[in-house]
Amino acid sequence: MKDIFKLDGKIAVVTGGAGGIGEALALGLGYHGATVVVSSRNQQAIDAVAARIKKETGSEALGVASDVTDEASLQNLVDTVKARYGRIDILVNAMGMNIKRDAFEYPLEDWDKLFDVNVKGTMAACKVVGRVMRDQQGGAIVNLSSVRGIRGYTGGNTGYCATKGAVELITKALALEWAPHRIRVNALGPALVITPGTRHIAENPELAAKYAAAVPMGRIGMPEDMVGAVIYLCSDASSFVTGQTIYVDGGLTAA
Ligand SMILES: NC(=O)c1ccc[n+]([C@@H]2O[C@H](COP(=O)([O-])OP(=O)(O)OC[C@H]3O[C@@H](n4cnc5c(N)ncnc54)[C@H](OP(=O)(O)O)[C@@H]3O)[C@@H](O)[C@H]2O)c1
Repeated sequence: MKDIFKLDGKIAVVTGGAGGIGEALALGLGYHGATVVVSSRNQQAIDAVAARIKKETGSEALGVASDVTDEASLQNLVDTVKARYGRIDILVNAMGMNIKRDAFEYPLEDWDKLFDVNVKGTMAACKVVGRVMRDQQGGAIVNLSSVRGIRGYTGGNTGYCATKGAVELITKALALEWAPHRIRVNALGPALVITPGTRHIAENPELAAKYAAAVPMGRIGMPEDMVGAVIYLCSDASSFVTGQTIYVDGGLTAA
């Protein structure tokens, strides 16, 4: 049987590709043979990740800046990738943010900011890349959800939970609508992962132990833990899988 996890010849776009999880996913795609276009708003950061992919994996990589809250900038990303590589086979939406606010006081402008990036940004990226995939009759999309997409959480996370719940339903609805076009749409649901934004938890032994204790496997996730599921969802290995979220969470959502 051929290597069904291989991505040789595939063109992948990773939004949020210079983020803690996005960088690991972009590298993983490169290691499995894909050409990787790394995107976020910070050109310097994405250029650095693209250089790392080329050096460490030998795959072709390019940094193209875009803001997922700006449809014209997403269209420019798509046009640039199409002009350079001719197609887009894989989209991984690894961008995202959180704004923690007490629910009694939640400023609605913060709610809008959160939804603009996590929800509208996910849909906008799917839409502009989805049109390319429709025209070429095939593609695989992976959206970053979270265990918070199906489990509520305290600590000012109402808005974040709501956005991730929305990402899961966008994923399912698009999976249905785009199945006839051979576009598969799935999601990844991590539990806490140590990234620059959450490093303060790893650096605080008491806090780290508290988070780890909540995970059946007894530890916090690392960005590298996320790679296998995404390679699976982007490759022929998952050719009959769409509309699903894979929770990579050490068993957290099994309870
Ligand atoms: N870390 C965790 O514990 C965890 C757990 C579950 C789910 N997740 C989800 O996984 C995804 C990645 O998380 P992470 O921890 O890797 O976050 P991160 O390190 O903060 O990275 C977020 C990325 O999103 C990009 N981004 C933010 N706003 C953007 C915009 N308007 N347009 C384009 N790019 C934008 C950032 O780049 P620029 O700011 O340079 O644009 C950055 O590359 C998020 O959706 C997050 O909700 C994370």
